[in-house]
Amino acid sequence: MESSIENTEEASALAEAVESNKFKTTGDIAFYRRQKKLLPGNSPYHALLDTLELSDCGATLQLLNEENKVSLFVELFALEDHVIRIKVNELKPMKPRYEVPDVILNELLTQRLSIVSKDGLSVTLATVDGCSQVLIIAKPFRMDVRNQGELPISVNSLGFLYFEHLRKKSQDEVNTRGSLLEGKRKRDTKTQKESEEDLGLWKEQFHEFIDTKTNGPTSIGLDFSLHGFEHVYGIPEHTENLRLKTTSQEEPYRLYNLDVFACKLYSRISVYGSVPLLLAHKPKQTMGIFWLNASETLVDISMNTENKSALGKTKKLKTDVEVLPRTDVRWMSESGIIDTYILMGPSPFDVFNQYSKLTGPQAFPPLFALGHHQCRYSYKDENDVKQVDAGFDVNDIPYDAIWLDIDHTEGKRYFTWDRTKFPSPREMQEHLRAKDRKLVVISDPHIKVDKKYPFYCEAKSKNYFVMDKNGEVYRGSCWPGVSAYLDFTNPIVRNWYANKHRLDQYEDSTDILFMWNDMNEPTVFDGPELTMHKQALHIGGWEHREVHNLYGFYQQWATAEGLIRRSGGIERPFVLTRSFFAGSQRYGAVWTGDNVAEWSYLKISIPMLLNLSITGISFCGADVGGFVQNPEPELLVRWYQAAAYQPFFRNHSHTETERREPWLFGEDNTRIIRETIRERYALLPFWYTLFYMAHIKAEPIIRPLWVEFPEEVNTFAVDDEYMIGEALLIHPVSEAGVTEVNVFLPGMGELWYHLRTLQRFDGEQTLRVSVTLDSVPVYQRGGTIIPRKTQVLRSTKAMEMVSYILYVALNFENSAKGNLFLDDGHSFNYQSKNQFLLRRFSFKDNTFSAVCADERGQYCTDCVVERVLVMGAVRPTCVTAHCPDGQVNPVYFTYNVKKSLLNIEGLQFNLGCDWMLKLHY
Ligand code: NOJ
Repeated sequence: MESSIENTEEASALAEAVESNKFKTTGDIAFYRRQKKLLPGNSPYHALLDTLELSDCGATLQLLNEENKVSLFVELFALEDHVIRIKVNELKPMKPRYEVPDVILNELLTQRLSIVSKDGLSVTLATVDGCSQVLIIAKPFRMDVRNQGELPISVNSLGFLYFEHLRKKSQDEVNTRGSLLEGKRKRDTKTQKESEEDLGLWKEQFHEFIDTKTNGPTSIGLDFSLHGFEHVYGIPEHTENLRLKTTSQEEPYRLYNLDVFACKLYSRISVYGSVPLLLAHKPKQTMGIFWLNASETLVDISMNTENKSALGKTKKLKTDVEVLPRTDVRWMSESGIIDTYILMGPSPFDVFNQYSKLTGPQAFPPLFALGHHQCRYSYKDENDVKQVDAGFDVNDIPYDAIWLDIDHTEGKRYFTWDRTKFPSPREMQEHLRAKDRKLVVISDPHIKVDKKYPFYCEAKSKNYFVMDKNGEVYRGSCWPGVSAYLDFTNPIVRNWYANKHRLDQYEDSTDILFMWNDMNEPTVFDGPELTMHKQALHIGGWEHREVHNLYGFYQQWATAEGLIRRSGGIERPFVLTRSFFAGSQRYGAVWTGDNVAEWSYLKISIPMLLNLSITGISFCGADVGGFVQNPEPELLVRWYQAAAYQPFFRNHSHTETERREPWLFGEDNTRIIRETIRERYALLPFWYTLFYMAHIKAEPIIRPLWVEFPEEVNTFAVDDEYMIGEALLIHPVSEAGVTEVNVFLPGMGELWYHLRTLQRFDGEQTLRVSVTLDSVPVYQRGGTIIPRKTQVLRSTKAMEMVSYILYVALNFENSAKGNLFLDDGHSFNYQSKNQFLLRRFSFKDNTFSAVCADERGQYCTDCVVERVLVMGAVRPTCVTAHCPDGQVNPVYFTYNVKKSLLNIEGLQFNLGCDWMLKLHY
């Protein structure tokens, strides 16, 4: 066997990379330098209104660049559900330009557009339903998109439309440098040769890496003005606040998936994944701009309170719109075409829904995936795994899955086992199965170049690897040493890779084994910015530069497909990925990568996860405790308390850190961690229902406050607390040694109940809350009902039959509502056979009722509701239960006057039945 690089060396190589400027700043990015030469307010593009054509699908139109005389072709679509799509390509490209495939899941229906008015200067188009109107101004080209009479967005109003047409190199050689730029240029005294190098048209260099551009310059860009908006969010992944900041004095937000170990905080540099969706919000409207481009992308943002943009001063035009404040957003990508979707909202949930209709729903994970995960880089051997597993039982801490990192393989050859450490992996899995637990193993996209490794040999012989620009298999260094990289953009490779997960192909795997895709930006230790060279070639001859941000998306897709296939299409997969793109939500979960055991990383995890959640990726989490370095016990406890209220909940630690199992930090801390994890398990029915709602209705699981309180301006920038569904508000403690925190309870006319003390508070106030190490401020919102389990056992599966308690929190109207979803917890039968229950609970007019919320669902369960707890209730004289068979019986209750708490116990209502409780006065 070839020896692999020492892990520690790799870690320090990665850390050093951050230190030693291995990553680009925008000054190093040639297409950005080129686009920034364009001056605002004087777009060279002129819309040729005579070329306007209407069809059933929308409208098309040509634009002429008056400087270089190259024409562009614009397609405009008014899609169902208030989505406008604008596509711009060259009218006659020399060869096809890359258009992102596979991300848009549903081509939405198009509406016909008709001409409302037209003169030589502009044309106005409207949808048949009259809801949307688009004003196209000819010179300079600009579009104003109106919805229900309002004008929320203009396109190219700053004149930053930018489109580098494909060309032959010889053409440049006869032209001056200026003719290559699609807009205003400054005079330059340099020679033509020097200038070309500066602008990186055909070649650019970063450190020792030379990027030769076979296709020459291909960059594109466009600006959008959001009228009346001063709050924008999204475009993950960055280590930044929830609300995006003006970039005029600083670096733009970069979207280029990179392996940035222990990355700097509050930075716009790229990290592991990208979702090019930006949301804008103001009190009566939320909207989104989805920029469908998978090449390196930069986003400039400017918030303006005067009628000029920090992205550049513009000339005032007659047609200018003067709605202030305004946010200008400028997108710039290295390649591809302009393909952008404007999601008109108007509510936050409309935008989530519009985006999900395009890119697909959050996958509905198996229930175990919502439990607590225990991971380490790496558990040493089978014995270690069994001891850790036993430790959870001894310490009475539930968990659902133990994870194996790269060292479980034979020399980092994925789909193999290191037989010295793991001689009987099947038996180990059966051991876990007997405890109702699962195993998750890592599988990275780099494949060890090794003639004795059948996986490599087969992929090599079938030409399944990414190629280099010379037509040889692309080679890079990663964990196993010299590696080749599977070309996941190729559907044939995905199909082959998926089959590798079959139980008969993946030796000693069982159906309790699930997957973790890491290093899939992809990481190439000896590549530029630790990733793949942009000239590497994928299927169809497409350069890596075109598909870079899609690579991880494709691997996770193939893996999820593999897990589904191995079960004959019956079981739901679980795959965690580090790299992602728009649409990755369809395939599983995402985590935020290599964070550090420092308080600041705990704090930043909240806005990072919120920005992922509102851009479709609901199933997300951060490594508990911080991956790198050792957390002090207080930090670890606080981290558990935060993560127990986040969708993906996993403790993970680096190979150089001390062991991190939750019982290693003293009795008191173990107790607090135990209680925290047990609280997660008690709330699992609530979490599971939220996942179902995310899946079918695109409702983010964790939500910024503004999503639930869209008209309350003081919620718009809050990112140290958040909502879980519509019912819980959590303010994680993210600072050392604090004994008090300020908790903002939003909502004029809202009531909130502290989840532990059940004490009631009015909304629209900031509470100064005392905290001890074992308390974390969590509040239930009045008007909601939360289902919980009455008892916590060792894993989600072990708790299947545990009865339910319903927490009813009354609002000022003395009412409340909530849902519960139930199925077998692991199969697709909820979908294919309608084997599920969706129950609706409500409290109104002193009556609690449980009814069916979806008649399609049929699922037999013996599970019962045992207790109902009503917060904010007036003491009744008697409570009667109204059974499905018509019987009416008085039921036992207790009442706590001080807390206004009514506790109805001893119930035995089957979850599938309709029943009622009446409070009599
Ligand atoms: C990098 C990942 O981010 C980390 O979670 C993992 O433990 C290491 N790779 C080793 O596989």
